[in-house]
Amino acid sequence: MVKKWWKESVVYQIYPRSFMDSNGDGVGDLKGIISKLDYLKNLGVDVIWLCPVYESPNDDNGYDISNYQSIIGEFGTMKDWEDLLAGLHDRGMKLIMDLVVNHSSDEHAWFVESRKSKDNPYRDYYIWRSGKDDPEGDGVTEPNNWGSFFSGSAWQYDEATEEYFLHIFSKKQPDLNWENEKVRREVYDMMTWWLDKGIDGFRMDVINLISKVPGLPDSKEGESGFINGPRVHEFMQEMNREVLSKYDVMTVGETCDVTPDDAILFAGEDRGELNMVFQFELMGIDSGPTGKWGVAPWKLSEFKKIVSKWQVELQGKAWNSIYLNNHDQPRLLSRFGNDGEHHSVSGKMLATLLHTLQGTPYIYQGEEIGMTNVRFESIDEYKDIETLNMYREYRDNGHDHSAIMNSIYAKGRDNARTPMQWNDEANAGFTTGTPWLAVNPNYKEINVESALADEGSIFYYYKKLIELRKRHDVIVYGEYVLIDAENEQIYAYTRTLGKEQLLVILNFYEHPARFVLDREKVSFDSNTAELLISNYDVPANQDIDQLTLRPYEARVYKLTVN
Ligand code: NOJ
Repeated sequence: MVKKWWKESVVYQIYPRSFMDSNGDGVGDLKGIISKLDYLKNLGVDVIWLCPVYESPNDDNGYDISNYQSIIGEFGTMKDWEDLLAGLHDRGMKLIMDLVVNHSSDEHAWFVESRKSKDNPYRDYYIWRSGKDDPEGDGVTEPNNWGSFFSGSAWQYDEATEEYFLHIFSKKQPDLNWENEKVRREVYDMMTWWLDKGIDGFRMDVINLISKVPGLPDSKEGESGFINGPRVHEFMQEMNREVLSKYDVMTVGETCDVTPDDAILFAGEDRGELNMVFQFELMGIDSGPTGKWGVAPWKLSEFKKIVSKWQVELQGKAWNSIYLNNHDQPRLLSRFGNDGEHHSVSGKMLATLLHTLQGTPYIYQGEEIGMTNVRFESIDEYKDIETLNMYREYRDNGHDHSAIMNSIYAKGRDNARTPMQWNDEANAGFTTGTPWLAVNPNYKEINVESALADEGSIFYYYKKLIELRKRHDVIVYGEYVLIDAENEQIYAYTRTLGKEQLLVILNFYEHPARFVLDREKVSFDSNTAELLISNYDVPANQDIDQLTLRPYEARVYKLTVN
């Protein structure tokens, strides 16, 4: 496996709107981030992934971009952004930007032109179609049956030219037409412009949706006309050739519905496309038959099966990205751990998993202090377009209010978007004004200031895991092997690099669990076992062949293979 800086790095994701507000308008901003760079350096992360900071009408909090080369006023100026980049580089950290080019905002100059007339030079920058005959309905209907990720049809009728445009996300996020060479050229030029400003790479939003099936036919049940479309790899290779290959940067593609085989196509070491992708299989583990909002129980054996599949199938072929939450997902502690009595130990146990799998770990802001999901009383307190559209649709279809709220409590994106909790003062120290989204009421207990004051906090555990990554190549490059696949309480695995081996043992639940090491699977010299990290005090020289793990106990041993 080839050594690369981005394999050895730990990424920290910032959702700027919710990170730190410097001017009291209730919205996080670039100066706010700059004021926290020493905090990030102290944590030890290497790369910052900045969610969109571009001009945007904010229909989807910046994922609807109206100008790719300017900074949204409420976050600051281009000068602030340059100061941020310099501040990161001065501290030895890198910056990757969010690249959102499956769609733009409908307020982007290209779309403003495009919708004017059928022969406008920008018409083909987007995907326009006339309606289909519908003799049984109003005479005309959407061009096909594709649905939007944000509820309803993926087509919007536009009066001006009496045609529909495609929007896989909101009506204010029209899809760009990647079949049009000019669009691709614009995107590559824009990427080059940012790279020449000195950024260190891109996180690419829903990048596996850019190629649509020609003719845009109706999708059959279980099929999609736009996921991993026929030209997607051609486009990615072109982007790499034209832009990425000219810089030493890192790239991660957000790719929904991909299998490990797909990931190898996008991120295979010899493919000339991306460095890694975000997969969603694990994030789907608690979805019911109706999808994300139908919350279903999950089993540890299934969790291990998914993670192991990705670890094993990508081994030696492509690189994993490891994340357990982000700005679109509920908080990991509330979802996979215990955000009540076992808050601290379960947060550390999940952190152990995040940092000891093969792949680049991604920390989402607030995760390092154990921030949790939120439960707002009223739907009016929620701001996320996906949540609000779903609420409306489900209500229209007769669903019960409290059942919908329970889905939102479990899965809503605003769980991750409540402001960062800096201290126990008003608004958790995030703003002196009124926060755009209410602060989680648990900020009095869970906040950065108290984490920094407590040597045993989740924060210092993350810091230690990051330091360990820098010292032990086996943590980065070791090959993963699962132990005891069927065990429903313990997740244990080894990582091996030459003679060096890690043994990771995690109790995923609040009940104590017996762990008996299978010596046929793990063969090592007992005298060499060194405890690298644990979320409990562990007696010296304890026999690791048979252990009783305490609630959410995590241990990582370093061994020498026999
Ligand atoms: C994925 C982003 O992570 C999400 O926040 C956004 O809503 C969609 N892509 C559309 O850009």
